[in-house]
Amino acid sequence: MKPVRIRSLFAASALFVACSAAFGADKPNVVILATGGTIAGAGADVAKSATYQAAKVPVDKLIAGIPTLADVAQVRGEQVFQIASESFTNDHLLKLGKRVAALARQPDVDGIVITHGTDTLEETAFFLNLVLKTDKPVVIVGSMRPGTAMSADGMLNLYNAVAVAGSKDSAGKGVLVTLNDEIHTGRDVTKTVNIKTEAFKSPWGPLGMIVEGKAYWFRAPAKRHTRGTEFDIDAIDTLAPVDIAYGYGNATPTAYRAFAQGGARALIHAGTGNGSVSDAVVPALQELRGKGVQIIRSSRVTGGGFVLRNAEQPDDKYDWVVAHDLNPQKARILASVALTRTSDTRELQRMFMEY
Ligand code: DGL
Repeated sequence: MKPVRIRSLFAASALFVACSAAFGADKPNVVILATGGTIAGAGADVAKSATYQAAKVPVDKLIAGIPTLADVAQVRGEQVFQIASESFTNDHLLKLGKRVAALARQPDVDGIVITHGTDTLEETAFFLNLVLKTDKPVVIVGSMRPGTAMSADGMLNLYNAVAVAGSKDSAGKGVLVTLNDEIHTGRDVTKTVNIKTEAFKSPWGPLGMIVEGKAYWFRAPAKRHTRGTEFDIDAIDTLAPVDIAYGYGNATPTAYRAFAQGGARALIHAGTGNGSVSDAVVPALQELRGKGVQIIRSSRVTGGGFVLRNAEQPDDKYDWVVAHDLNPQKARILASVALTRTSDTRELQRMFMEY
C-alpha cells in the first residue's frame, strides 16, 4: 500500500481525528467472544432461575441488552461457539485460545472478554492463563441465572467484565474471571456452589473487586502466567489426553485401567485427604507408570491447602507427580498442556510447582 503523504498540518490533524473516531481512541476497544452458557441462557418463567436452556442468546443481543456498555468501552462481539460449557472439549479450548491470541496481537484491541458457561469456566480460564503470551487483559465471565429470571446476574457481570478488560490496571495480571462483583485469577478460581450467584471462590482469595465499573485491586497472582509462560498456544495443535479418577472408600483400579486403555497419557488421582491412594489401587498405578502413564496426585479436598510430595505416598520411589494446590480439574488442564512439551517426571513436577 503506497504511504499517505501529508501535505499540511491541517490535513494531518484531520486524519488523526478521523482515525481516533474510527478506532474509538477515547474509549478502550474490547472484543467479546461468546461461547454460550447460562449468561446466554433463556427460560420460560421469570420465577425459575435454575430451569432454563443454556446457550440460546446470541452475542449481539447480549451486548444490546446493556445500553450503558458504551460508557466503558467500544465493544464488538464474535460468536465463537454457542454451547453449554460441560460440553467443552480440548478442541474447543484450542480454537478459543488461538482466536484470543490472534486478537491480542491486534493493535486496535485493548482487551478481550469471553462469555462462558460456569460449569467448566475455571478450566478454560486456567488453560488460557497457561498458554496466552500477552499482557492485555483477558477476562472470562459467566452467570448463574439466565437473563429471563428475576435478579439475573449476567448483565452486571458482563458490564463489569468489559470494564475490567478495558482498564489499563488489569494488564499483566494474567487471565481474570469476574462474577458477583469479584475479580479472580483464572488459575485459582473454582465453582463451589451450583445454584447461587455467589458461586465462585479462590482458595487464596480474589485479586480484587469491581464496583460501579471501577476495579479495586488488593493482591497480584503469585504463579507464572501469560507473558511469563513457557507454553505457547500457537505452537500447540493437540492437547494430551488426561483423565481423572476419584478416590473414595472401597475404590478399585477399574477406572484407572480403563482410562489408560483409552489412551490417557496421564491420570489425575482425585485422592482422599492429602491425595491418598487406597492400597487396592497402588499396584495398578505402579504398573501403569511402568507402561509410561504419568500418575499425578491431586485431592478431592479443595478450598485451601495442597498435596505434599512424599507425605501420604512415596512419590520419589513410585516416580509420581503431585498437583500441589491444583484441584483435579485444574491438574488435568496443566497436565494436558505440559505433556505437549515433556514426559519427564521431574520437569512435570517443576511445572506443577511453578504454574
Ligand atoms: N450448562 C451449564 C454451563 O453451560 C450452565 C451453568 C452456567 O453457565 O452457569 O456451564
